[in-house]
Amino acid sequence: MANKKKVVIEKASATRVKENKTLYIGIDLGTNHTAISTSEGKKKSILSIVGIPRDAVASKFLKKERLYGDEALKHRVALNMFKPIESGLLKNQREDLEAAKGLLQYIMGLVDANRDVKKYAIIGVPSQASVLNKKIITEMAKDFFDGVMVASEPFCVAYNLGELEHTLVVDIGAGTTDICRVHGTLPEPDDQISSNKAGDYIDAELVRLISEEYANVRVTNEVAKKWKEHSSFVGEPEEEIVVDIPVDSSILKLSITKEIRTACESIIPDIMSGISKLISTYDPDFQEYLRNNIWLAGGGSLIRNIDVVLGKELELIDGGKVFKDTDPVFSGANGALKLAQDMPPEFWQTA
Ligand SMILES: Nc1ncnc2c1ncn2[C@@H]1O[C@H](COP(=O)(O)OP(=O)(O)OP(=O)(O)O)[C@@H](O)[C@H]1O
Ligand SMILES: [Mg+2]
Repeated sequence: MANKKKVVIEKASATRVKENKTLYIGIDLGTNHTAISTSEGKKKSILSIVGIPRDAVASKFLKKERLYGDEALKHRVALNMFKPIESGLLKNQREDLEAAKGLLQYIMGLVDANRDVKKYAIIGVPSQASVLNKKIITEMAKDFFDGVMVASEPFCVAYNLGELEHTLVVDIGAGTTDICRVHGTLPEPDDQISSNKAGDYIDAELVRLISEEYANVRVTNEVAKKWKEHSSFVGEPEEEIVVDIPVDSSILKLSITKEIRTACESIIPDIMSGISKLISTYDPDFQEYLRNNIWLAGGGSLIRNIDVVLGKELELIDGGKVFKDTDPVFSGANGALKLAQDMPPEFWQTA
């Protein structure tokens, strides 16, 4: 049976090589999630988590050497867990690099991209990733592709939106909020400001605020994250947010409306100061365009009302227009894919 399957795969890939098919791939390598999108129209997103069974017993019971994404999270008590990307950077330890490679191979498998065809990929990474970190990522990924390039994620988002001139992208991720000016060329260090007040920070704030408000209540960051993803908002509440919280041996229904609002709003000041700085240091002839073309991206852009509240704050500094990206999960990967497809063929010969 196994042999039969192997023959079929080899036959299929041989045909494709003969056809000289090229597969273009866009990848968004994030702290929280990794998304992939291919020129065949396939896309997938998984949590950037890898789990390795702690011992032989766990390995036998789970029947796998490695688990990825949600599956790893589900069995985490039996696993050594790796999050190879931290605060937007790929960690440079051997185990993390191996985990990142495994993650890449796994997600490529999900979109049928582990076949023997020519593959050209662009990987979007946080705008602040250093030259060294970009090199580490290229090195880690090069075995998978015939050509690979690393590009700044906000640039990929802007490319996907078709907004390459005088655009301010505010990418609210898990580890960092990256604010980046895009103006035709690939962004330079001066075009970017990064803050560590993003999704993880909101979760930690929520835990702190709940335990301050309610004595004896202990909430984990994971639970706070779930509540946040379900009910996040800034500005005026639309309804009371009530959750079940275990206290001693019973479960109480407690309101966390105020805490959710305060935690979500804790990232606003850094975003505003970043936006204000990037507008004021831009070419004065084009500042008006920039302030009226602000795009929110990343999972944090799903916070209800965040575009409205930022718009109001902007009124205090001469106004501006804020838009929400409609597909925050895939816009980085889709933009990276479009960019890969638009690169001239000569580019890939040297990439
Ligand atoms: N509905 C929601 N409301 C608020 N936050 C949300 C919502 N959905 C997802 N998030 C948060 O968005 C963050 C993940 O965003 P995203 O997937 O863009 O991050 P990432 O690209 O992996 O991280 P980074 O850009 O920091 O590397 C998490 O903190 C997650 O909890
Ligand atoms: Mg991101």
